[in-house]
Amino acid sequence: MKADSQGTSRRPLVAGNWKLHKNLADTRALLDDLLGRLQSKEAAEIVVAPVFTALSTAQQRLAGKNIGLAAQDCCEQPQGAFTGEVSVPLLADVGCTFVIVGHSERRELFGETDEQVKRKVLAVLKGGLTPIACVGETLAIREAGNTEKHVLAQVDAIIDGLETLDEEPLRAKTVIAYEPVWAIGTGRTATPADAQAVHAAIRRRLAERLGPALSDGTRILYGGSVKADNAASLMAEPDVDGALVGGASLDATAFAAIVAAAR
Ligand code: PGA
Repeated sequence: MKADSQGTSRRPLVAGNWKLHKNLADTRALLDDLLGRLQSKEAAEIVVAPVFTALSTAQQRLAGKNIGLAAQDCCEQPQGAFTGEVSVPLLADVGCTFVIVGHSERRELFGETDEQVKRKVLAVLKGGLTPIACVGETLAIREAGNTEKHVLAQVDAIIDGLETLDEEPLRAKTVIAYEPVWAIGTGRTATPADAQAVHAAIRRRLAERLGPALSDGTRILYGGSVKADNAASLMAEPDVDGALVGGASLDATAFAAIVAAAR
């Protein structure tokens, strides 16, 4: 638990983003392997995000276990003529409690904008699930010295959406994931100090616009080449409340070690 000036505590969250990997048989095998490696009570809340087609299979495997289910994306709309989309109510129906929104691969490869990310965050919250909203800068932006400006603009778009919600508890559920694009899948990780600096800036912005209570309670995850050997030092930073893990989440030993690093 991370305590803060207000005495609020934030339970660490470790989320595995499986991306476009693992068929049904592999999903069962990976979950069984992982369940065998976790303690029955972990300090961290644990979530995995398989592909859409494996969510139902994962739900059956995870019934009564301490691993939650996340989707990797969602439709902004609850239903209708939106061929190929999957809505938040349908994700809830299949047991998801979290949805990753605005991952850099969605933004870069599929052209998702800050506006769309904002609308998806709202759709997730209104559907009763928890968004993990991703933000992060490219290498060019970092090298130009514009990291904070870029990331905070992405955060501002999310806050613009949250401001339209009347219910404080609903707003406060959102999880932010800071994922520098240059660190994703590259083996390059932000140093704990660099990650902390951005996390602190995000938390300050949340405080300025939505108040200190919400800011103190919001979990901000780090993502980008998180591995068993760097997870503890990243999560030791005061504003790093867990990890969004890609590659290492496909390996039960590595993912269990990252979960253990949050103890
Ligand atoms: P990575 O991916 O851990 O493989 O760098 C992180 C992510 O894309 O969420």
